[in-house]
Amino acid sequence: MKLSVIGCGYLGAVHAAAMASLGHEVVGIDVDEAKIALLASGQTPFFEPGLPEILTTALASGRLSFTTDIAAAADAEVHFIAVGTPQRKDAAGADLTYVDASVTSLLPHLAPGSLVVGKSTVPVGTAQRLADLIAPTGARLAWNPEFLREGFAVKDTVEPDRLVYGVDPRTDTEDTAVLDAVYATAIAAGTPRIVTGYATAELVKVAANSFLATKISFINAMAEIAETTGADVTQLADAIGYDNRIGRRFLNAGVGFGGGCLPKDIRAFTARAEELGRGESVAFLKHVDEINLRRRQHVVDLAVNSFDDHIHDHRIAVLGLAFKPDSDDTRDSPALDVAVRLTGLGADVIAYDPEAIPNARRAHPQLHYADTLDDALTGAETVVILTEWAQFRNLDPTETATRVARPVIIDGRNTLDPTAWHNAGWTYHGMGR
Ligand code: UDX
Repeated sequence: MKLSVIGCGYLGAVHAAAMASLGHEVVGIDVDEAKIALLASGQTPFFEPGLPEILTTALASGRLSFTTDIAAAADAEVHFIAVGTPQRKDAAGADLTYVDASVTSLLPHLAPGSLVVGKSTVPVGTAQRLADLIAPTGARLAWNPEFLREGFAVKDTVEPDRLVYGVDPRTDTEDTAVLDAVYATAIAAGTPRIVTGYATAELVKVAANSFLATKISFINAMAEIAETTGADVTQLADAIGYDNRIGRRFLNAGVGFGGGCLPKDIRAFTARAEELGRGESVAFLKHVDEINLRRRQHVVDLAVNSFDDHIHDHRIAVLGLAFKPDSDDTRDSPALDVAVRLTGLGADVIAYDPEAIPNARRAHPQLHYADTLDDALTGAETVVILTEWAQFRNLDPTETATRVARPVIIDGRNTLDPTAWHNAGWTYHGMGR
């Protein structure tokens, strides 16, 4: 099939390359010339395992192209809207500028019978508004939320765990058939597919992310209680996680969630529910957000306490800046936030991350960055792990002790074995253990 993907950021670039790798003819479109030039040359503007490989192969096959010219979408049968919906600068709600601009620019090029498919995360009600906007062209609209995780984006796109199609009930059979053809490989593999109305499809995405965020804040709330009572939240998570109804995944206590999705999605959902007069229904998400943000300050407090409250000019090695491992994304990253807060308190912070330093530096050029893990560790008086990259998880406690000035470690992701670190002479602080 002929597809266009409008918006070649994280979601769109992966979607375009993945759809081409599945045999479709895809044009990726974005207003950012530098991004388009980079993608067209087979390079990715961000770090994502597996993406460079499928991008190069798809470009070489001739099935994938990139352009800034929206007119190139004209002969596509399906147009995916994959632009960002960041948090608004002035409020908690989602900024729909890019969604609106992309649909408006697409309007003159829409052929009757073509299908516009929204993938961006939007406030409930957006799809119906856009459907009304495109109706005069004879094109139709579907909403098909994306659940990909950074670090697993290619796999999540090619082998999703479920497909959700939000469609107009008047054309649901036709629209479902078109989307089934787009996702033929996943459908043939037996991927569950749920066909809904627009509102349900829009809500599925924010409900899923709200649930995940709540799960993380729940275990972090337990970590707070564990810290006061001497309990171990990791053992607690293992024990409750064996109950299939609960499940062990997303029960890792630590410095909390960040990234371009969970924090902004729960805030936008809260704002939208308030607009709809249903603020009370999701009021708990404010607590979820507060618990999450408290964990960042907790790590800062532990670091300050490790110097008996006199942190000024003391050397702290911050290991990790990305919001999670296998990503260079520092959007709303707890790790970067903690590094900034400690620097703001006058500590001599040196930060290291295997992938995220360029993004961190763009946002916070004043921070002090190390070129290597060794440089970060050398002379550190307190080491703080904030992103659980394998190279930090695999640090040898005995060898690491020889590099630092003082063997004190704060394990902000509960990624180390406390006993091994104690035995090697370290003062170890975990999160709720
Ligand atoms: C998330 C959703 O998982 C995905 O389905 C959706 O499409 C986009 O948002 P992503 O932002 O890539 O994906 O990251 P995810 O793996 O969900 O992690 C989010 C944050 O939660 C990270 O900062 C991670 O470190 C943190 N986290 C995750 C925890 O603190 N504890 C956990 O147990 C799990």
